[in-house]
Amino acid sequence: MNKVQIIGTGHYVPEKIVTNDDLTKIIDTSDEWISTRTGIKERRISEGENTSDLATKAALKAIEDAKISPEDVDFIVVATYTPDAFIPNTACIVQANIGAVNATCFDVSAACTGFIYGLDIATQFIKTGRAKCILVIGAETQSKVVNWEDRGTCVLFADGAGAAVVTSGEKEGILACYSGSDGTKGWTLTVDGVPVRNPFVKGNPGPMYDLSNSTIKMDGKEIFKFAVGIMIKSVDELLKISGLSIEDIKYVIPHQANYRIIESTAKRLGVDIGKFFINIDKYGNTSAASVAIALDELCKSGNLEKGDKVLMVGFGGGLTYGGVIIEW
Ligand code: ACO
Repeated sequence: MNKVQIIGTGHYVPEKIVTNDDLTKIIDTSDEWISTRTGIKERRISEGENTSDLATKAALKAIEDAKISPEDVDFIVVATYTPDAFIPNTACIVQANIGAVNATCFDVSAACTGFIYGLDIATQFIKTGRAKCILVIGAETQSKVVNWEDRGTCVLFADGAGAAVVTSGEKEGILACYSGSDGTKGWTLTVDGVPVRNPFVKGNPGPMYDLSNSTIKMDGKEIFKFAVGIMIKSVDELLKISGLSIEDIKYVIPHQANYRIIESTAKRLGVDIGKFFINIDKYGNTSAASVAIALDELCKSGNLEKGDKVLMVGFGGGLTYGGVIIEW
């Protein structure tokens, strides 16, 4: 089996900063409510860039960081639930934008766990020798599927992209991958797709469906309960797989959905919250981009030394969950 390493990371967020105070101008809310319930102070919102645009910019930064050229990339995996289109997939659009002519390209739909699923897929492809170099990207423009009249959700979700270059290497850099799903809880977070409407549907197929009505619907309390339990289970499983203890982990990068979810997880794990890398105050919940952006910020922070172990863990719509432990 080949050894697998992350050799470069990058991220890109739209320039437009929307603060909690800005949101008070469009919905009945307050900085106090949003800050205390979620930990979010501001978020980045696209002024027109689509998911592939954000993904492309993050990808180019990761490629530059890894000191490779786009022709070296064997696969591009884009994790997103907000693609530009049904066809072509976002990864193919990124391929054309960056000139990664040798890549096979596909998207992964696992909402906020998407980047972790992408890393898991890349790891297995490289371990088995199927690929040497894989670009994994988490990218979302959730602002296009947010219901901007629903104060319960529009304050949470935001836009952004993060990327990592995963390659075979001398040293084992991926110490554990773990993932799972619970489709029975899919109803807790939904964005509708297109219903079946054709001349053969029995009865009245109804009017043409307007996709602009497809917005995020969420049972926040149910997800909160699920999130804490599943993050703890995922951490436990990752430690078991790797043979490490939580003391061996320098940083935990959790999915940035809500500060209180992260705090409860840390408390129940008996881990100091200082071990958790948190940037939700700046970016809100960027779904598949969340762990990817945080990974890049941590890698560039100067706080990691060779041999440090970082545990990434997430959950998301589906419901989906999982994590990865890397060694720097
Ligand atoms: N501003 C002011 N008041 C608000 C707002 C707002 N933005 N949103 C809701 N409220 C009100 C509600 O109307 C309610 O008022 P009422 O008591 O008069 O009815 C009150 O605040 C409490 O609302 P709750 O929904 O009970 O608030 P809660 O404390 O549960 O917090 C939250 C809501 C932040 C959504 C929380 O449940 C949460 O974070 N859940 C997890 C959500 C999550 O992680 N989602 C994404 C996961 S998957 C993925 O990442 C794609």
